[in-house]
Amino acid sequence: MAVISASLLACDFARLGEEITWIQNAGVDFLHLDVMDGAFVPNISFGIPVIKSMLPYKKALFDAHLMIERPENYIDAVRACGADIITVHAEATKHLHRLVYRIKETGAMAVVALNPATPLSTVEDVLDDVDLLLLMSVNPGFGGQKYIESVSQKIGKAARLREQRGASFKIEVDGGIDGNTAAVAARAGADILVAGTYIFRNSDPEGAVSFLKSL
Ligand code: DX5
Ligand code: ZN
Repeated sequence: MAVISASLLACDFARLGEEITWIQNAGVDFLHLDVMDGAFVPNISFGIPVIKSMLPYKKALFDAHLMIERPENYIDAVRACGADIITVHAEATKHLHRLVYRIKETGAMAVVALNPATPLSTVEDVLDDVDLLLLMSVNPGFGGQKYIESVSQKIGKAARLREQRGASFKIEVDGGIDGNTAAVAARAGADILVAGTYIFRNSDPEGAVSFLKSL
């Protein structure tokens, strides 16, 4: 059974409270919150005040994916608006080990993310310290992109590395997850699937969630 993190980037923001309510009732495990700053990625999404406004509706864990430069400056604020899981990109900080420990100090789960072109070796030395490893299966910045097939090999490699090291981090895959690629990513070793477009733009959104959960 896969763990599902629903990316709100594809939801109807004018009805945010209702969207959060139905998606949680549909049984997703996490709400994936894509924070973009227009600098680390070529798009701007939403930030701290919007996440805070979601708190009255919160049942699932908040999975904050920070696609921002200098993420170290925002950890406390992101935690204070309800983030249970905080993801930072290895490409966005100079002191990844320090940042991972900064996140853990707040009590949140610490996640490092890798863009499709960044090798696993970049984070090998912090893998024993993180709760999750997020592998981007699209270039970050936009929802609705196509799953990059070569990332499946990277997922498999991360799963083997975990076994060799006796580590316990979970593998989360983000981008282009749909009815076909979800199964490919899960078979390759993904534990957690992030999905936005496939859920929110589906003619049967509840059915999409059940299908993903069944993997
Ligand atoms: C992309 C984001 C993803 C995105 C996934 O930068 O990190 O979380 O919203 O959206 P879909 O599922 O539409 O590819
Ligand atoms: Zn994301």
